[in-house]
Order: sequence, then C-alpha cells, then structure tokens
Amino acid sequence: MDSKQIFEHWSNWAETYGTNLRATTKTGTAKLLELDALARRLGLLNTTESADILEVGCGNGINCISLSKQFLNFNFDGIDYIDKMVSAAQDNLNETQDTSDRIRFFQGNVLEIKTHPALKKEYDLIFTNRCLINLNSPELQQQAITAIASMIKPGGYLVMIENSQTTYAEQNKCREALGLTPRTPAEFNLFFDETLIRAHLPSAGLSLLETEDFSSLHDIILYALVPAINDGKIDYDHPIVHAATQLSRTLAATHPGAFGPFGQNRLFHCQKLS
Ligand SMILES: C[S@@+](CC[C@H](N)C(=O)[O-])C[C@H]1O[C@@H](n2cnc3c(N)ncnc32)[C@H](O)[C@@H]1O
Repeated sequence: MDSKQIFEHWSNWAETYGTNLRATTKTGTAKLLELDALARRLGLLNTTESADILEVGCGNGINCISLSKQFLNFNFDGIDYIDKMVSAAQDNLNETQDTSDRIRFFQGNVLEIKTHPALKKEYDLIFTNRCLINLNSPELQQQAITAIASMIKPGGYLVMIENSQTTYAEQNKCREALGLTPRTPAEFNLFFDETLIRAHLPSAGLSLLETEDFSSLHDIILYALVPAINDGKIDYDHPIVHAATQLSRTLAATHPGAFGPFGQNRLFHCQKLS
C-alpha cells in the first residue's frame, strides 16, 4: 500500500473501533504478552525515581495507560498520526479518572517528531509497538529510528516491538511442517528486514542490547497448531491460546524467550550511546 492508503486504513480502524482494543489489534492475548514484555523492560529503569517515557504510534493509548498504573513515578507521552486514535486515547484516559497530567497524548507523525512542539526534548525510554511496520520502505523505517533516537537521553533506551521477517519465516515453517500454507503479512505492513534494521542502528547512535521473542509459544499455537486441528482456521479465542498466554507471562519472568524465534513480533532493546 502507499502511505496515503496506510493512513486511511488506520483512520478507518480508529473511526470503527474507537476506544476498543480492536482499533489496533485482532489479538487480545498478544496484547497481554506485549504489555508484559514492555513492563519488564520499563522495570529495568530505576522505578523509584521519575522517568520520561514516550510511545510512538500509541494508537488509542492502551499501552501508556496500562503501564502508567504499574509505574507510578513515570511520565508517559504518546503520539499517533491519526487524530481519532488520539481522541480515543484521551477518552480512555478520561475513563481512568487520572487527573495527574502524568499521561499526555498528541497527534504527530514519527517522521516529524523532532520538531513536535509539545513533546519533551529528550526521553529516558522511547518505545514502539507495531508502529514502524506501517512505514512502507526500509529507508523510511530507518529514518524513523534515527528521528526517535535523537530524542533519547544519552544512556537511555529504545524498545521496539515490531514484526520481523526473520521470525515470521520461522513461524511459517511450523505451519508448513503441519501441512498448512504460509501466511502473508497484511498489505498495510512491511515487516522488519532485520539485516537492514540492525545495520542501521549504530548510525542512529544505538547499540542493540538484546532481542526477545516473547510470543513464540502463543504464536505457534495460535497460527500453527490450532489451525492444524481446526480445518486451517485461526481461532483467536481458543482456550489453549489463553492457556499459552498465561504460561508465557508466568515463565517470561525467569525464562524470557524460552520458546525460540517463532513469534510474530520481536522485541529489540537498544541503548543510546553516550
Ligand atoms: C498496530 S497499531 C498499534 C498501536 C499501539 N502501539 C498498540 O500497541 O496498541 C499502529 C499504530 O501506529 C500508528 N502509526 C502508523 N504510522 C504512523 C506514523 N507515521 N506516525 C505516527 N503513528 C503512526 C497508527 O495510527 C496506529 O495507531
């Protein structure tokens, strides 16, 4: 899709689903795993002191609002380029009755964040969650990473949860082993080409500390094993998908990435060089 069609896609979902989780994902169980993975990364900061956190491509605000309840000393800003996502995020925030000003949402494009008038100059940690895959060339994804990195304090962090062509290919091998056809990404997404993204990080002043595959068990079950016994159909609400989510969240505390590189999303934890 071209950039205009991708923008229209997100406008439509924001218009159709508003404050509901469905505005940004079809998979509620994956969202639980994403939040768990993000919380474990934020938890590596000094949680007894204040820290400024920014989510780029915040959708209707569910990540920032949820994390703000766990990290009471942190301030959260979220930006999204769709006005209606931002107003839905504000509506979700109003529901919490948090009037502290600790959480703020703004309209803005990742490619222009450096000149955004309302954002802070620098953040302790910036994260993305399935945002950069909506930029339709590796060059734009790299440009976005450079722009984001320029707003991270020296020694601060970038955490990207983005879909990877590498792990997606591994997941498709699981399907093929079970006699299923490979899946193809949604047309509004360009999954990370890890060779290009990893090679770009140093020029953005970033060092990749770690990757984490936090959803492999869940995704093998959701996208391979359940379809294999269910006429090829994906069942987002199958009880074993819920059980895999619960088990993955419990084990992640002691065995992160225990189930191999088969997840739809991969977490990239980077540090801004001083
Ligand atoms: C898959 S949704 C994820 C939303 C949120 N991060 C979450 O995890 O719930 C992707 C979001 O990225 C936003 N987005 C896509 N391209 C963007 C851009 N160039 N600048 C800012 N936001 C963008 C979309 O509007 C959408 O809300």
